[in-house]
Parts: sequence; structure tokens; C-alpha cells
Amino acid sequence: MKEKVNSIQNEIEQELNKVTDLKELNDIRTRYLGKKGPIAELSSSLASLSIEEKKEFGAILNNLKTSVNSKIDSIKNKLEMEELNKKLESEKIDISLPATKIPVGAPNILERVVEEIEELLMSMGYDVVDGPEIEEDKFNFEMLNIPKGHPARDAQDTFYIEDEKILLRSQTSPVQARTMLKGEGKTPIRMICPGKTYRRDDDDATHSHQFMQIEGLLVDKDISLSDLKGTFDVIAKKLFGEDCKTRFRPSYYQFTEPSVETDISCFACKGTGCSLCKNTGWITVSGAGMVHPNVLRNCGYDPEVWSGFAFGFGAERLAMLKYGINDIRAFYQTDLREVNTFDRKDVD
Ligand code: DAH
Repeated sequence: MKEKVNSIQNEIEQELNKVTDLKELNDIRTRYLGKKGPIAELSSSLASLSIEEKKEFGAILNNLKTSVNSKIDSIKNKLEMEELNKKLESEKIDISLPATKIPVGAPNILERVVEEIEELLMSMGYDVVDGPEIEEDKFNFEMLNIPKGHPARDAQDTFYIEDEKILLRSQTSPVQARTMLKGEGKTPIRMICPGKTYRRDDDDATHSHQFMQIEGLLVDKDISLSDLKGTFDVIAKKLFGEDCKTRFRPSYYQFTEPSVETDISCFACKGTGCSLCKNTGWITVSGAGMVHPNVLRNCGYDPEVWSGFAFGFGAERLAMLKYGINDIRAFYQTDLREVNTFDRKDVD
């Protein structure tokens, strides 16, 4: 019996010395310690021995089992550690490799111009408000002193959605009426509304069927044209530089009286005359005027008490002038060659 135990022990040790992976190790464990293995076989042969011998060999067999088990466990630990190290080695990241370059985006220049005006006017106490792009005829025209059938409507080439009731707004001016109605004829108003507008225009370098306007409205007591001039001057200087001069020319809008076109001095030729300003030294950038008494009245503000001014910039026109873009379609065709012309440092 002793010899048999010794020979099994030797056999197992030899096998364990050769083992190189966990699967082999597991096979050895089942082969020698399993129910049909040689150690189990020896244990069952104990039955035929005397009590003394049972005690002696029982202990020997137990020792054998414990020592084989612990050897297998320690080899298992060693193999697992080796496998983990191999895995870590294969997954090592080489931090000295050059990184993939992620291109940095730039703010859309149209948005940038709008934000610049928003920030400036917010610092002067204006609220930035929103209005619907699908608008009622009532707000887009009637409240603004442009009744049905009035020839001033023709200039706006409106997209109608439902008879003469619902339309795609042709200007951001309806937001004037909506804001005044909310004020209920009581509170002063300072608001700007940047937003999309739509007209049945054929797209070309200076026209787009969808474009962006920035509406401005101030209603308070004792407001005069010189307040409008001062405000426009601040906006123009912020956008086009401190040496930018401004002027008003008489104009006509149904919802303002008097109405003006606002001009800035040409920043390209400094007023001496060039192709950008068509040799006049001046560039027109918006329409504006004093809010018409009918509009104030329509929207619940008594023109005997309240007065105000309004203005409407074409956002693309401002951006085109500021960044030297000569085709309005560049804003909407998402041609990356155009978009990438302006990187962050050009814009900020
Ligand atoms: N809504 C006008 C247009 O689309 C622009 C405009 C002119 C807006 C004068 C105003 C204004 O608020 O006072 O042509």
C-alpha cells in the first residue's frame, strides 16, 4: 500500500512539473482526485484492512490528498498570474504614439453676428424673445397697419398657408405686436427678436427664400428719433468698429412714422467711395423708425402716453458685410470649404 501511494505521488508530481496551462491542470485534478481516480480507488480498498492499518493508511491517503490539492492550487495561482500578465502586456497602450487630430469647429458666423447683437442689447436691458414662424396674417400685417389689400403687402412676396389667414412670416415685425399685446399697454418694452423669415424670392447671390432678421422694439414714455439714432450708433460701432459713422435717410414703412433707412460709413474705403458702397461711401444695413401711432393703438398702447422706436436688420447682410462674404447662399448650402474659411480665431 505504501509503495502504491509513493508511486502515485511520484506520478502526480511528474505530471505537475510539466503542466503549462490551466486546462491541463484541471485535467490532472479530475484524473487523480476524481471519484474514479487512483486515490479514490485506494480509499475504497481500505475497507478490507484491519482497524490499525485503516488508521495508518487512512492518514497517509488524507495527507496525499491534501498535499496534491495544495500543490495544484499553488500552480493554479501561478498560471493565472502568468495569464493576467500576458493579457496586460498585450493590451498595453503606447502613450508616445502621435494622437489622432480632432478638427476644432468654429461658431457659425451668422449665429455669431446674432449673438453679438443679442449680448450688446441685453447689456442695455433688452429681452431676447421668440415668435412663431408660422404666423397669422393679423400679426404679420394687420396689427402693423398693413390692412388686407394694401399695396405695401406686395413688397413682401408672402408664402400663404391658408387663404389670407395663416402664412410663413415674411418679417420678424409681428413679434412687435405680440410683445406689446403681452405688455397690455402698461409696461415699457425693450425687446429684440432674431429669427427666420420667408419670402417667395428666387435664390441668387443676394436673395434667399429663407433668411434671418433681427427685430428690435423699444416702447416707453418720451422716446424720440434721437434715442433710435443713439442705439443704432452703439450697435454699428460694436459690429464694425469705433470709427464707424452712421446716418439716417428718410424711407417708408407702413408701421413706422417717420421711417428711415439706416446707413453705416463704408469700412472698406472709409467713405471715399468703392465698389462695396457703390461709390457713395455709405452702406444701408437696416430699416427703422418711430412706431406708428396706429400700431401702438392696435396693440393696446395709448400713443398720447407712449412712444417707441423699432428696427429690423437682415442678419445675413450684416454677416456678409462683416466677413466679406459675397453670396447669401453660402450660409445655407453647408459647403465645408466655405464654412472652414472661418476658424475660431477669425471669428472670436
Ligand atoms: N420688417 C421690415 C422688412 O422686412 C424691416 C423693418 C423696417 C423692421 C422698419 C422694423 C422697422 O421694425 O421699424 O422690410
